[in-house]
Amino acid sequence: MFGDLKRKLTKIGYVPRRKELVALNCALNRNNGAKVIILEGQPGTGKTFLAESFAKIIGAEYIYLLCHNWLSDEEMFIGLDVPRLVVGVSRPEEAYKPGVLKRAVDASNGGFAVVCIDELDKTPERMEALLLDFLQSGRVYGPQGEVWEGKLDKMFVFITTNNQRSLLEATLRRGFRVRTEYHTPQVESDILRKKTGAPVNIIRAVLRLAMIIRKNGASSPSLKEAENLIIDLKTARSAEDVRYLLEGWLIKEPEDINALLEQTKDPASIIWGEIRRAKWSGGN
Ligand SMILES: Nc1ncnc2c1ncn2[C@@H]1O[C@H](COP(=O)(O)OP(=O)(O)O)[C@@H](O)[C@H]1O
Ligand SMILES: [Mg+2]
Repeated sequence: MFGDLKRKLTKIGYVPRRKELVALNCALNRNNGAKVIILEGQPGTGKTFLAESFAKIIGAEYIYLLCHNWLSDEEMFIGLDVPRLVVGVSRPEEAYKPGVLKRAVDASNGGFAVVCIDELDKTPERMEALLLDFLQSGRVYGPQGEVWEGKLDKMFVFITTNNQRSLLEATLRRGFRVRTEYHTPQVESDILRKKTGAPVNIIRAVLRLAMIIRKNGASSPSLKEAENLIIDLKTARSAEDVRYLLEGWLIKEPEDINALLEQTKDPASIIWGEIRRAKWSGGN
């Protein structure tokens, strides 16, 4: 089972860690209520990508909500479809516009549903409290007292948080918590190699800078940013170009550049040196 999950995820580009496989495998085998997985970790550690990839490999309908601090009940549960009401509806259901949880309920009645409530820490606690009842019951209530019930054993709910605020204790108790981390440099290097086809010396040099920023800087460059940087490096024609690319993809805060300068005299020249060494530039 673990091997199967691992193979399927890897095949579509997600390189899973053992603890993620454990969580997914348990969710697939548990049948006593909602299957909730709470992914906590820094930006860029693959939380959203994992939810999306899992939906793909189990052939589930993927329902996604990116949270924000003015998130409404309508977006989460169900709202009135005002434009349709103006035009006129023939059946009462047509007056409603399903929010993500209503869509999850409907999807779970037809097959598997994977719901990703992304970055729940960005919503006020009030919204999180409303979500709790759904996680317990799998039910969404309409404004006229309608009740729609989903199949909890067909529903996987991924909640992600970047820890801008702590989630409610009650939410944490309802899910299998997985702390996501960056992969080891070796695995990150393999992923980037597959994605970019760039020479390994360039990939390693970029990852080394990313790692310095993650450790001592203010931001946390993701694998995706490293990937974009490496692809764009092919267009560089000088160390100066490389500097702008580093600023465009890796460096976000003054602390990031300070961290780099503390450990490397001239990060752009180092990368430029590697590009020339590998003769990788698109031609001078
Ligand atoms: N385990 C992984 N395997 C493959 N790629 C990954 C992995 N984790 C992260 N990535 C890459 O990093 C990018 C950012 O991941 P994302 O899911 O957006 O992070 P988060 O949601 O934690 O901020 C992904 O689009 C993917 O390219
Ligand atoms: Mg994300």
